[in-house]
Amino acid sequence: MADELMYCPDLDRAIALFARLGLRLDAIFPADDPTVASLSGNGARVRLVRAGGPAMIDPGDPGDPRELPALAPSFSIVRADHSSWRTGRAGMQYRDLIPDRQGGRYIASHIRIPDGGPVPDYVHFHAIQFQMIYCYRGWVRVVYEGQGEPFVMQAGECVLQPPRIRHRVLEASPGLEVVEIGVPAVHATHVDHERALPTPALEPDREFDGQRFVRYLPAAARFAPASIAGFEASELGIAAATRGLASVHVLRARGAGRRDRVTCRHDGELVFHFVLRGELTLDDEHRLGTADAFVVPRGRPFAWSDASSDLELLQVALPGEPGLRGE
Ligand SMILES: [Fe+2]
Repeated sequence: MADELMYCPDLDRAIALFARLGLRLDAIFPADDPTVASLSGNGARVRLVRAGGPAMIDPGDPGDPRELPALAPSFSIVRADHSSWRTGRAGMQYRDLIPDRQGGRYIASHIRIPDGGPVPDYVHFHAIQFQMIYCYRGWVRVVYEGQGEPFVMQAGECVLQPPRIRHRVLEASPGLEVVEIGVPAVHATHVDHERALPTPALEPDREFDGQRFVRYLPAAARFAPASIAGFEASELGIAAATRGLASVHVLRARGAGRRDRVTCRHDGELVFHFVLRGELTLDDEHRLGTADAFVVPRGRPFAWSDASSDLELLQVALPGEPGLRGE
C-alpha cells in the first residue's frame, strides 16, 4: 500500500491529529528538525511532510542505511550560542555543530532538555552507519536492546549505538546536555511497535552490522600521551567496538597546560572537536571555550596555542585512525 502524501504547516499538530484518528507513528526524520513522518493504522498509511520542507521525503528502508553522500570537507567553528537552539524529536532541543554537514555525510548535535523529567520517547532505532552519544551535563536514563535494565548515563559517560539497536530515552535530569554524532547526517528514526525494552537476554557481545554496543565510564579512562605533543588522550573503546570505523578520545592538556603553539594536520574524513572544559586558541585567532566545536578538513594545517591547564576536548575521528599528528 502506497503512502498517502499530505503536506501540513505544523508536523507535530498533524501527527497528534492522526494519532487521535487511530494512526501510529512509524518513522520520522530528521531528528534535529523533523519535517517528514510516516504513520499507519485503520487500513491507512500516511506520509506527512511539513510544507516548505525538504526535497527528500522518503524515510528509507529501516533495514538499510542510505548510501553516504559525497564528502565535502570544510573548516567550521560553531560557537556556544544561546540563540541557535530548535526543537527536535521527542521534545528535545538541538544545536547544530557541523552546519554544512561536510556534504551530508556527518551530523553533530548538541542536544539538551532544560526542564528534565520523563521524556516522551518510544522504542526506536536508526538506519545509521555510526552513532554515538556523549553525556556532557546532567544525567539521562536510557535502555538498550540486549544491554540489561535501564541505566543512568552520567556526565562524562558515552555510548556507542550500533546500527539498528533498539533503544529508548526514559528520563532526564534538569539541564541535561549531550553531544551526538551520526552518519549519515539525515537518517530516519524508525519506531518498533513490537519490541519491549528491556529485553530479557543480556547480549553485551552481540554485533549489529559489525559493531558492539559500548557504555564508557570515565572511571575507566586510561590517559596516554597523544599524537599531539603536550596533550594526553583516552580512547573510549569505540575504535575496537567499531573495528576502526571511528575513534573517540577525551583529550586534555598535560601538566600545567600547553601554552606554546603546536601545528597539526590529519588525513581522515572527519576530525571533530567539542570543548568540554577550559580554553584553547585555534589558528592564532579563535579563542575557544566550553561547548564550542570545530572541524578541520584533511590536509589543512591547524594550530593550537594557549591551552588552559583544565582544557578537555571531545575528539571524534572517522576513520578511527585519521593520521592526526602535531609537530
Ligand atoms: Fe535514538
